Order: sequence, then structure tokens, then C-alpha cells
Amino acid sequence: MKIAVLASGRGSNFRAIQEHIQSEKLDCEIPVLICDKPSAGALELAARFGIATEVISPGQFSTPDDFGAALLNALTEYRVDFIFLAGYLRKIPVNVIERFSNRIFNIHPALLPSFGGKGMYGKRVHEAVFQAGVKVSGITIHLVNSEYDAGPIVLQKCVSIEECASPEAIAAKVLILEHKYYPQIVDLILSQKIVVNGKRVIWRDQT
Ligand code: GRF
Repeated sequence: MKIAVLASGRGSNFRAIQEHIQSEKLDCEIPVLICDKPSAGALELAARFGIATEVISPGQFSTPDDFGAALLNALTEYRVDFIFLAGYLRKIPVNVIERFSNRIFNIHPALLPSFGGKGMYGKRVHEAVFQAGVKVSGITIHLVNSEYDAGPIVLQKCVSIEECASPEAIAAKVLILEHKYYPQIVDLILSQKIVVNGKRVIWRDQT
């Protein structure tokens, strides 16, 4: 099984997934990391892991379809089965979503459907959570569809943030959950199959 990771930033979730694959010796590999900009820190991590990289920026293309076609070329070249977004800030073009139907996952650092949607990423999410005064936050791993943060939910985990005195403190607590559970989804994908019924995701044993 081959999975592609798409990232725009520092890549700590990419690292967590790769380290999990290495330590569990799963029959799974990341043949390629795809970034949308050459400054993404994740690219350096990939070099350290010996993982191939592609930088494909939407700005290089005149339409989302052309951007998607370039992504699909790379995904085909590396024979990718599943896609995991890890801090990837670009909208996935429809032609990619259609080709990889129910095989693209994202992690969001809050409990959707709250604190998500266009423009809600990175620090902004944790600031909104802090300002809202909610007492728990967490992670949502979901399938990717054509709307930001709106695909069927695969997994959610929460953590108390009552003691957090800043958005940064919330981010740190949530990141621990991200690194623990995002790699575990890779395991589940390998051993079970996802059945999507409307907004509901059901796991079926493949054996
Ligand atoms: C994470 O908080 C993830 O949930 C969000 O973007 C951030 C990426 O962090 N989608 P990293 O680049 O994996 O360290």
C-alpha cells in the first residue's frame, strides 16, 4: 500500500506517520511528499527520511483542473493508493477528489463541525477555540470532499483545555493527540475498509 502525504508547513504530522510506519514495520510506504511551496519545512524532513518530494503550486496553473491534473500525474507516477493531508492549506481540486473518492483524509486541530471552514487553519483555529471559552478541544480526522473541513468524520478525540491559558497552550495539547492518532488511522486503513453512508463512516474488517 502506498500513501502520499501533502503538506504546506513544518510537517510534524508527516514525521509522526513516517516514524510510525518505520517502527511498526507496516506493509505501507510513503513514496512521495507533495508540497505546494518550496519553503515547506516538511521537505527537509522528507530529505532526511529519503522520501521523494514534489513541489506543485496552484499558482503555476491557470485552472484548478490543471492543478489537479498535475497532482494526479505525480500520484499516478508514485502509484499512490491513499492521500493524507497534513497541514496542507490548498483546496484539493475536484478531479483529484473524484479519482481518489473516499481515499483522501485530513486532520483538523479542533472538533468539527465547530471551528472549521475556509480560513480556519493553524493558529487561527486555536485562537477561535480560546476566545470561545470552550472547555474541551481536540482533533477531527475526516474524509476530504469539495468543501473545506466538511467531509464525513472518521475519528474524533478530545482533551480538556480548562487549564490552558493561551491559544499556544491549546495547540500544544491538541498536537499530542494529532501525533498519536493520525498514524493510527494508517493502520486502520490497511486492515479495514471504509464504508461511507451519507455523513457517517463505518469500518468493515477486510478479512
Ligand atoms: C496541524 O495542527 C494539523 O492539524 C493542521 O495543520 C497543522 C499542521 O502541522 N491541519 P504540521 O505541519 O503537521 O506540524
